[in-house]
Parts: sequence; C-alpha cells; structure tokens
Amino acid sequence: MQQVIDSFVNNFQTTPKVFFAPGRINLIGEHIDYNHGYVMPAAIDKGIWFAVAANNTNTANFVSVDLKDSFSVSLDTVQKQDSWKNYVLGVLHVLEENNIKVGGFDCAFGGNLPVGAGLSSSAAVEGGLIMALNTVFNLGINRIELAKLAQKAEHGYPGVKCGIMDQFANLNGKKDHVILLDCVTLDYQHFPLQLNDYAIYLINTKVHHSLASGEYNKRRHDCEEGFAILKEKIGGEISSWRQISPEQVIANKEALSTRVFDRCLFVTQEIGRTQKAGELLKQNNLIEFGKLMFQTHEGLSKLYEVSCPELDFLVDQAKLFPEVIGARVMGGGFGGCTINIIEKAKADAIITSVTSAYQKQFNIIPEVYEVATSNGTYEIV
Ligand code: GLA
Repeated sequence: MQQVIDSFVNNFQTTPKVFFAPGRINLIGEHIDYNHGYVMPAAIDKGIWFAVAANNTNTANFVSVDLKDSFSVSLDTVQKQDSWKNYVLGVLHVLEENNIKVGGFDCAFGGNLPVGAGLSSSAAVEGGLIMALNTVFNLGINRIELAKLAQKAEHGYPGVKCGIMDQFANLNGKKDHVILLDCVTLDYQHFPLQLNDYAIYLINTKVHHSLASGEYNKRRHDCEEGFAILKEKIGGEISSWRQISPEQVIANKEALSTRVFDRCLFVTQEIGRTQKAGELLKQNNLIEFGKLMFQTHEGLSKLYEVSCPELDFLVDQAKLFPEVIGARVMGGGFGGCTINIIEKAKADAIITSVTSAYQKQFNIIPEVYEVATSNGTYEIV
C-alpha cells in the first residue's frame, strides 16, 4: 500500500483517498455465473491498492506501480487502447455510456494479486477504480449497481463476456464469509466460512491464462447454442438452465454436437452440484462438500475443457492425500490456481510433496497462498 501512496505523491503532489480492492476465490460454481447458476465466491486479502484524487481538469492520469507504466487520457476522447490500459479505460467508457459524469482525476495503483492466476485481478482493477470514483465524485451508486457496471467494463474494452461473479465478490465480499450468490436475481447471503481444522490453500501453476484469448467467450457461445437447441427440444416454458436436468441433456444428445453436448452436460451438473454444496456448507459438512469440488474439476477438465495438464497434475497429486478433502481448478481456467481444502495439521507436508512433484514434472516452481478472506473494496481511512 505504501508504495502506491508514495508513487501517487511523487507523481501528483497531492493527498489521495486510498482504497483496497480484493481478489477473489470461488469455492464452487464455476462457469455458471453466465449460465443462470449459483456461485460461492469470497473476497480475499490479496488485492490492489488504489490512490485517487480529483484534479480539477478533464484528464485522467494513471500510474501502474507494478508495471512501471503510465498514461493520460482526456475524458472527452476515451477509446480502446491495448494491454492493461483497457481495464481502466473500460471503466471510464462504461461510465460515459451510462451518462455518469466524473471529472478529471489522478490515480496510482498496484498490489500483490498475481495476474492471470484465476484470482480476478481484472475485476479488482475495475471494482477498485469504480468504487474510488464513486467515492471521490460522490456518485452515490450502490455496490450491486457498481458490480454490474464493472462487469460491463470488462465486456467493453477488454472484451471478455464474463459473468457477474468476480466484480460482485470484489465489491460485496465480507471478511470471514463466503457469498452465496444467485447470479440471476443477484440475491445473496453472506455465509460464515467455518473451516475448523481445515484451511484453504491456492497452488499457482504459474501457467498464465488469458481469458481475452477468446476461449472464455467461445465457452459462452457454446452454451448459448446448446441452450437454444435444448429449449426448443424440451419445449414448455424453459427460460433458464436451472430448468434443464443433466438427464434431459443426455436425452437430447443427438441434437447437439459433441462439444456442445459436453458443455451443456457440465453446466447442468454444476448447477446441481452448487445447489447441493450450498446445503452442505450450511450443515458444515466439509467432507461431502470437498467431494463435489473434485467432481467439478473433473467436469471442468473433461467436459468444459478449461483445465490444462499442469492443473490436472496438481489435482491428481492432491487426491493422493486423504487430508485434502477437495481440490479443483478455480476461476476461468487454462492455467492459474487450484483451490484446495486441506487439514491444517498436515498441510505443510502435503504442500511440500505436491509442489516438489510439480516442479519435477514441469520444471516450474509453483506458488502457494493460504487464503484469508476480506471485505469487498473499501476505503482505507
Ligand atoms: C472468470 C469470469 C467469471 C466466471 C469465472 C468462471 O473469472 O470473470 O465471471 O465466469 O471465470 O467461473
């Protein structure tokens, strides 16, 4: 945080407001936020700090402390550019599109959230900036609306047609809680995360994913195609994936291409798993909950095809230890982290074993993070 404040003061010589914008984990409910599903994310204590102040001009000045890069843009000529700039420009663009007026401002940001690791650094940038502008310019927009705007920001210039999960978690997280979110109605509940003898560990494959590479949007497209076909085949009043069961997908297999069939089967199974998982969490039945996580990994790997050999290897290794009660790829996939629920007393030894096997296999040293939860983006006062 101090580095971001120092950079702001060096560059702009004024006193900023400072915000922390968290990354997120997701316990279960993957790739179904954009398929009428339920998700179980939590904001975490790794994130991005923003230092922001109005500058009484019509220009926004950005400094990325981590990338040692900066640029300025006139608020009258906001346009798509390249790389990281699109995440902040996307926010300005969406505000403009919605006729929400902000003045010029100075902004420095940076943090400790690994990029491309499935922890949603992009939502942290979007959520952090939009919350900072909401505060600095007294926009009075509530956190749910801010999350929707931040999601649209990602759809715009970065061009990833993401669901609402990441931006929602970034803005609505609560320390020591997970969010049980209905992605259709946006009804949500904060549920205490009581892990007792267990803890959550993320293992970063260090294989970088890029959702913008188009695979994410292709998955979304496959699902839309499948949904339209199934809706017609099943008939009746189908308006949501929630009304379609895995059995109905199987019964209509011949109407779908193999690829689209696999995607549809995953979506319907994952919606069912997440509903079950919600009940199990309320009963504090972590063991059964963990089994569903392994099933989710299998589905994401074989049916949804968003895993990779490195992620599969980490999950297979984790399965060797009964003290790992659940493990799976987390987030968009194609690289990034696995999420693991591990018995605390055994965690060190297990992690050493899994990570050294990984290093031997791929010649990459993975990173491990023990997760602590956080509040959604907040001002540091
Ligand atoms: C990315 C997207 C989310 C969600 C996950 C997969 O993180 O931003 O909306 O779809 O992938 O669950």
